[in-house]
Amino acid sequence: FNKVPVFKVAAKAAKRSFSSTAAINTAKVAVLGAAGGIGQPLSLLLKHNELISNLSLFDIVNTPGVAADLSHISTHSKVTGYLPDNDGLQHAVSDASIIVIPAGVPRKPGMTRDDLFNTNAGIVKELATAAAKYAPKAFLAVISNPVNSTVPIVSEIFKKYGAYDPKRIFGVTTLDIVRAARFVSEIRGTNPKHEKVTVVGGHSGVTIIPLLSQLNANFTDEETKALTHRIQFGGDEVVKAKAGTGSATLSMAYAAAKFTDSLLRALVIGETGIIEPTYVKSNLFASKGIEYFASNVEINSDGVKQIFPLGRISSYEEQLVEAALPDLKMSIEKGIKFVKEIK
Ligand code: NAD
Ligand code: LMR
Repeated sequence: FNKVPVFKVAAKAAKRSFSSTAAINTAKVAVLGAAGGIGQPLSLLLKHNELISNLSLFDIVNTPGVAADLSHISTHSKVTGYLPDNDGLQHAVSDASIIVIPAGVPRKPGMTRDDLFNTNAGIVKELATAAAKYAPKAFLAVISNPVNSTVPIVSEIFKKYGAYDPKRIFGVTTLDIVRAARFVSEIRGTNPKHEKVTVVGGHSGVTIIPLLSQLNANFTDEETKALTHRIQFGGDEVVKAKAGTGSATLSMAYAAAKFTDSLLRALVIGETGIIEPTYVKSNLFASKGIEYFASNVEINSDGVKQIFPLGRISSYEEQLVEAALPDLKMSIEKGIKFVKEIK
């Protein structure tokens, strides 16, 4: 595999270690589902990222308006909006170094993420097919739920097109880490910026496993259980509060912008030592038939460089892992089967 495309431009580099007019490497980033609840604030945050040369916005509706609006912001990236007509999807993804996918329907109260499978699997399949055909070297950051199944779907589609490289396909679980840091800081009275909580497993309910014991925070058993539950079901808190109008969008946009920035730093400026928690093809639980697992992952310009094991965990966390595995296995198999059954 060749490297993904990276462009060199003279850019004003804010808050980075470049001089203000230095030539820096930049990249095209495509957001698929860019007019949605996540897509719009995510695109806004990405418009602020100086490592992006072209911000390419695709959705089945409203991208011309969103793109026109964002294009007036005085940062250097060029914003282009695409709709499905005139091969819009193809143009949106071609030459992209990173493709972020927040397309698909969100939950309503009472639904699980898996209840979204029937609608979102087809959407993700279609977008992954375009990525595999027209941007086979891109990094893919999958936000659409159920992530535990949509990442296997994207992988299977890439296999179909002979473009599969597991190092480049990421399920975005950053929101679980963002939430964990915030919730822990509320109890410890600390700055959430400094709380680094490792969260492993997958992205739904019991598959979200925060390793709170590694914080050495001396939480009581009750505090550990309550915090674990809040992190596992943080998404439900937002779904309930939004009362039928959707799920987390703003915190998710923040999380996805953070994750995309890490990918960009690894990819376009070759920064080393970047570690992000993400749901990827992983050998950690392969012996138990689990092909994908979220854990801390070192990312470099080729994608996944190293997958970190869980480290020392408490007996309570061991139980959480055991409880997560059957659910994860089922979701992964469901995603794989979905693609295999496509004629
Ligand atoms: P939304 O309904 O507000 O936006 C979704 C967008 O996708 C819409 O603009 C819609 O037009 C677009 N879309 C639908 N079909 C498409 C297609 N074929 N091609 C391109 N775009 C298409 O929903 P949202 O709140 O932005 O959530 C989007 C997805 O993200 C949901 O599946 C949700 O569950 C998921 N989500 C994941 C996380 C996570 O942590 N990974 C967090 C929050 C939400
Ligand atoms: C979240 O964790 O907020 C998202 O996965 C959206 C949801 O359905 O809860």
